[in-house]
Amino acid sequence: MKYLLFWFGVLCSSSVYAETFHADAQYCLVCHGSNAQGNEAISAPNLAILPDWYLSSQIQAFQSGWRGHQTTDAYSKEMMAVAKSMSAEDVKRAIGFITGFQVSKTPETLTGDETHGKTLYQTCAACHGAAAEGNQAMGAPPLAGQYSWYLLRQLQAYRSGQRGAAENDSRGAMMKQIAATLQQDQDLNDLVAYINTLDIQKTNNPKTDIKK
Ligand code: HEC
Ligand code: HEC
Repeated sequence: MKYLLFWFGVLCSSSVYAETFHADAQYCLVCHGSNAQGNEAISAPNLAILPDWYLSSQIQAFQSGWRGHQTTDAYSKEMMAVAKSMSAEDVKRAIGFITGFQVSKTPETLTGDETHGKTLYQTCAACHGAAAEGNQAMGAPPLAGQYSWYLLRQLQAYRSGQRGAAENDSRGAMMKQIAATLQQDQDLNDLVAYINTLDIQKTNNPKTDIKK
């Protein structure tokens, strides 16, 4: 009962508890969902679709403040607090834990011009892959299987400079430059509507580089 009450408390005031990483990597699931599939209610993305190298690069980005240093982005600040409380050993353990989950996603529909989105996506495919499966050599994560609300928010964050503007964040800077070319909100919407149609199963998601 005590245990249940504890997790209930974490859910109710996650930002308060975000200061400390718990030795048990289950902590990640409090925000990211019971199968690491994400949770729209608190804007936490799907982690199960992400390969270990990208999880690692983003935890590093949060720890160094590249992501989350901006005052207006409450979501990345929340994740930054979690990342900053983690030791190198904690990070390794959490990544091993997260990559153990099967990919899954709650079905969602986003209205947009998918045909237009497909045309726009040709630019993205060079780095993210034709099926949005990701490309480690480019540092570009899989997008297929990620939530529309999250992809949209990240594109807006790159475009406004909330993400990708920090010095030394060369990967983020690359993406910031791309997002700057997409000035129409409808273009972002159409792109994400198209990505939403891509089959999550086709993604190439190597999960074995970092041992548990
Ligand atoms: C207090 C809630 C909370 C907890 C606990 C939490 N996260 Fe997050 N996480 C978030 C939110 C919210 C975001 C979205 C941040 C943004 O929009 O920039 C996020 C984003 C991320 C991202 C970026 C994903 C991407 O696609 O770029 C990674 C990686 C991540 N979290 C890993 C973890 C890991 C690993 C743990 C466990 C150690 C964890 N998180 C625990 C709330 C949380
Ligand atoms: C030149 C290579 C390149 C191109 C072209 C490119 N991206 Fe990216 N993208 C990246 C890299 C690298 C990252 C990771 C950046 C970081 O670490 O913040 C990224 C990250 C993202 C993210 C954040 C995903 C997450 O999980 O947080 C989204 C969304 C995204 N790209 C969408 C797009 C879309 C849509 C296009 C086409 C309009 C596009 N990208 C074109 C390289 C590219």
